[in-house]
Amino acid sequence: MNLTELNTIAKAMVAPGKGILAADESTSTIEKRLSSINVPSTEENRRDYREMLFTAAGAEQYVSGVILYDETLRQKAKDGTPLVEILNKRGIIPGIKVDKGVQALPGSDGEKITEGLDGLPKRMAEYHQLGARFAKWRAVLSIDAATGKPSRQCLVANAEALARYAGICQAAGIVPIVEPEILMDGAHGIETSFKVTERTLHTVFEQLALHNVALEGMILKPNMVIQGEQAKTQASVDEVADATVKVLLRCVPGAVPGIAFLSGGQSDELASAHLGAMNARHPNLPWALTFSYGRALQALPLKLWGGKAANVANAQKGYLHRARLNSLAAQGKYDAKLEQDFKAA
Ligand code: 13P
Repeated sequence: MNLTELNTIAKAMVAPGKGILAADESTSTIEKRLSSINVPSTEENRRDYREMLFTAAGAEQYVSGVILYDETLRQKAKDGTPLVEILNKRGIIPGIKVDKGVQALPGSDGEKITEGLDGLPKRMAEYHQLGARFAKWRAVLSIDAATGKPSRQCLVANAEALARYAGICQAAGIVPIVEPEILMDGAHGIETSFKVTERTLHTVFEQLALHNVALEGMILKPNMVIQGEQAKTQASVDEVADATVKVLLRCVPGAVPGIAFLSGGQSDELASAHLGAMNARHPNLPWALTFSYGRALQALPLKLWGGKAANVANAQKGYLHRARLNSLAAQGKYDAKLEQDFKAA
């Protein structure tokens, strides 16, 4: 493992004012996204949609890297140029989702374990050859206060898988994004989210240490500390920002170069506002705090595109608008008034 190289890539991923586009929807997830705009999920439509995102001129000011799905890493644009080459030419680092999704965790009460470790070193070597310089593995945890979820069994099993994945990445010269996602489903308050996030991150960093993962060569991708979607009381933007920073300060060693949040189903505006408030209110943190958003970067351009070539320019404008506002949020310069800057054509 070349730690200097890994650290250089990790720092570039979270360079000031830059974050990551998560465009690594699995075949079943991208099918859902495309069906929401009445577009069939053919290989060509998936390509056209992602090509629209990757060719948006100027995105490289805001976006350091893109997480790709296996199909996309191997795909060529309409004119025959590999999509990876389009990204590389713009100075955007290609990444790859390597987990194989979730399965039921045997012995648990309906909890999930992420699969994909078998054969991973071999796949990782191929991904490196295909141009990926970072990877992503997502663990999925649900909160249910009544049954004590997530259970310790589920936390430890998923944290161990994340740590083993991270070690495999680093051995192949690939920076791991370590993503333990606590879902927003449920009626729990922000205090419960705080406690569960704290337990989760402690467990993840214990396993990362056990498996000798070099913290300087990884990126953490956590949820924000936020109430459940069905909660009666909504925490304010500042409360979410302060609680999230507080839990991260407790759990994440300063050797980690950066923390790039998932959006997790938050509205576009809230995902930007929360990140903006964290950076504005807490300017001197040991790690960079930025975005690695899927839905909060893509919801607008997906809708504007609607599967029509004639809409590409307008969809790209929508994407750039969200990317720019999240870039400002990563610098603590987000202002809700800036939302007015975009007017759909
Ligand atoms: P969302 O931002 O839509 O939560 O997606 C980020 C991601 O990569 C989830 O694994």
